[in-house]
Amino acid sequence: MGIKSSAPGNIFFFGEHAAVYGRPAICAAVGRRTEVRLRPNRKETIILNSEAFGKAEVSLSDGKIISSENAQLENVAAFARESAARFKISQGFELEINSEVPINSGMSSSTAVFCSVLGAISAFAQKTLDKSEYFRYVYPFQAKAHGGKASGSEIISSTFGGFNYIRKKKDGTPPELEAKYLGDHKFHIVVGNTRVESPTHLTVGYHVPSLIKRDPDLVNKAFDKIAAIAQSALAAIRDDNVVALGQLMNENQKILSGLGLSHPKLDDCINSALRAGALGAKLSGSGWGGIMFALCKAEDVGSVKDAIARTGAEPIETEVGVEGVTVKKSLF
Ligand code: MEV
Repeated sequence: MGIKSSAPGNIFFFGEHAAVYGRPAICAAVGRRTEVRLRPNRKETIILNSEAFGKAEVSLSDGKIISSENAQLENVAAFARESAARFKISQGFELEINSEVPINSGMSSSTAVFCSVLGAISAFAQKTLDKSEYFRYVYPFQAKAHGGKASGSEIISSTFGGFNYIRKKKDGTPPELEAKYLGDHKFHIVVGNTRVESPTHLTVGYHVPSLIKRDPDLVNKAFDKIAAIAQSALAAIRDDNVVALGQLMNENQKILSGLGLSHPKLDDCINSALRAGALGAKLSGSGWGGIMFALCKAEDVGSVKDAIARTGAEPIETEVGVEGVTVKKSLF
């Protein structure tokens, strides 16, 4: 008997980077998920076995990392151990982590891992963790993964699923957030994975802070414009007005590009998608590579997919606005 938990990756329709500095973001959960299987064992350690990052082992009693094949996995091991300690778990267990979310791509692979690990561990401790509680547990580890700063938007999106408007009201660990569920919508998107790996800490922890230091006015004005775009997008989403939504996405992309957050391969995919009939296209997440996505009419999905594939990027046709974290006992 074990526990199976899963959480979705996310896209930012609007507001990445600006959200770290108190402006609103609109995120949506996508149909690419991370799955965690928890099996108890007879050891006094937690063993992590990740398809993408290899293995790690951490002591349950003192939190010492016994072994780790990857630095990113160490952060997950530390999170798993802290969660086990919080729920007073003294029995060892193994976490097998398999992810359909491309890593270091801006699709929130780390958030999907944290949320699914927390879901599995809380269920192992026979605690029903309310979805509203995930945020404060995951936030400090996500901030670390992002280079010391994070908006926390993706945690809300991965936990609750669907479409969410999120704004950081007050800094802190965790910060105070305002979050609004934006209802169910059937939008058609194609994600393009540029295959250019871009760890979030490069732009969040290094590039954007360096811009702010040199020209705070420029960055603040750009973030205020993004905030106004996200605000206008609320009506477009409410009315399922995909034409207006696409235009707003293009405006948001122009501003991100002006801040040096795009990448030649992202631009290649975005321009190709727009030429193939997409209503709007933008990078999503940290930028400098990773993913972009295009919003399309249903009849244009095939041609946009083909156009993205012709650039050499990986086109991913996926549902958007899917279910958040799920946890169930399982016979495996
Ligand atoms: C990274 O996926 C999204 C950023 O806005 C950072 C964050 O929100 O924490 C760049």
